[in-house]
Amino acid sequence: MTAGVATRLQSAMRRALDLAAEGPAGGPNPQVGCVLLAPDGAVLAEGRHRGAGTPHAEIDALSQLPTGAARGATAVVTLEPCNHTGRTGPCAVALIEAGVARVVFAQRDPYAPASGGAERLRAAGVEVEEGLLAEEAEALNEHWTVAVRRGRPWVTAKWASSLDGRIAAADGTSRWISGPVSRADVHRRRAEHGAIIVGTGTALADDPGLTARREDGSLLSAQPVPVVVGARDVPADALVRRHPRPLLHVRDHRPDAVLAAVAEAGATAVFLEGGPTLVTAFLAAGLVDELLVYLAPTLIGGPRLAIADLGVATIADQRRLDVREVRTLGADLLVVARPVDPGVPHTDSAASA
Ligand SMILES: NC(=O)c1ccc[n+]([C@@H]2O[C@H](COP(=O)([O-])OP(=O)(O)OC[C@H]3O[C@@H](n4cnc5c(N)ncnc54)[C@H](OP(=O)(O)O)[C@@H]3O)[C@@H](O)[C@H]2O)c1
Repeated sequence: MTAGVATRLQSAMRRALDLAAEGPAGGPNPQVGCVLLAPDGAVLAEGRHRGAGTPHAEIDALSQLPTGAARGATAVVTLEPCNHTGRTGPCAVALIEAGVARVVFAQRDPYAPASGGAERLRAAGVEVEEGLLAEEAEALNEHWTVAVRRGRPWVTAKWASSLDGRIAAADGTSRWISGPVSRADVHRRRAEHGAIIVGTGTALADDPGLTARREDGSLLSAQPVPVVVGARDVPADALVRRHPRPLLHVRDHRPDAVLAAVAEAGATAVFLEGGPTLVTAFLAAGLVDELLVYLAPTLIGGPRLAIADLGVATIADQRRLDVREVRTLGADLLVVARPVDPGVPHTDSAASA
């Protein structure tokens, strides 16, 4: 491959990643983009996946061309073309039938029923290269990829606390601990998840709408499924009942049962917004993949802590976190961290020494 061809393929893959990112996140399907290149390197067509039940990115791109126009083309795709018939037919077959000569894809499909597209293409005589910008593609679909591998939705737990780790005042009021820049960040991140979960304690105390909104209050285009967990009823006049998507009320307290119900509703990434009882249950069960802690420059004191008992009786069992990012948001600090080992308490000989 000449340097010129390699550069063209790389910029086509970057474009395909941008197209992929325009698709909806957090739903049952990954974000995928595709660019079709003519043998001379010119862009013939572009496509992206717009969510479950709509054409895959390759089909979206092919559909913009007259029959026969993709003969001899190179398809640059962010995910291995699928090999199964789901809501749509196999993309590998569509590419073969369109006469595509070469397929360059970034990420291997981790979803077993859909995988095997590369082998099918090769068996039909199509040249296949994989791995170009694979890290970027996996980062884009990290939530979906982890969900497929672990067989449960990705879980992001979020809270806003004072510097002394309190999430509410003694009377239970907690609006607003963090500032407007933090809140805008939360709303943007809500839209990247397929569901938002709160416990009945939070639903009853705060009456949250659980929508993803712009600063002017208008709704963002992607709205996660609102989920309330707990045995108590959600009042008929609760704000969450006016959410554009129907409320999913899970009365079962077990975090794995909650995630199964949410997966059933089509979400591969969930935003767990508290309160402390529910977040503690998920942490204790080893079912949190990432923590977003918005720390406000304030002191509240008192009993309303962000997290309850995690069963850490001795410091050797503390739950170590790997800090991924620390950012200033207005007057607040955002700390993004991941459990070093979500399922097992961290044993640290240095800490116990
Ligand atoms: N600063 C923040 O970021 C933030 C965020 C959220 C909430 N808050 C504050 O937190 C307070 C509410 O705290 P909370 O802990 O009561 O809220 P919560 O965690 O939202 O709700 C607790 C309730 O959820 C149900 N539940 C669901 N799964 C459970 C499980 N695995 N184990 C035990 N119970 C489970 C139980 O209710 P049932 O009896 O109905 O089953 C339980 O009483 C409010 O003051 C709110 O303002 C602050």
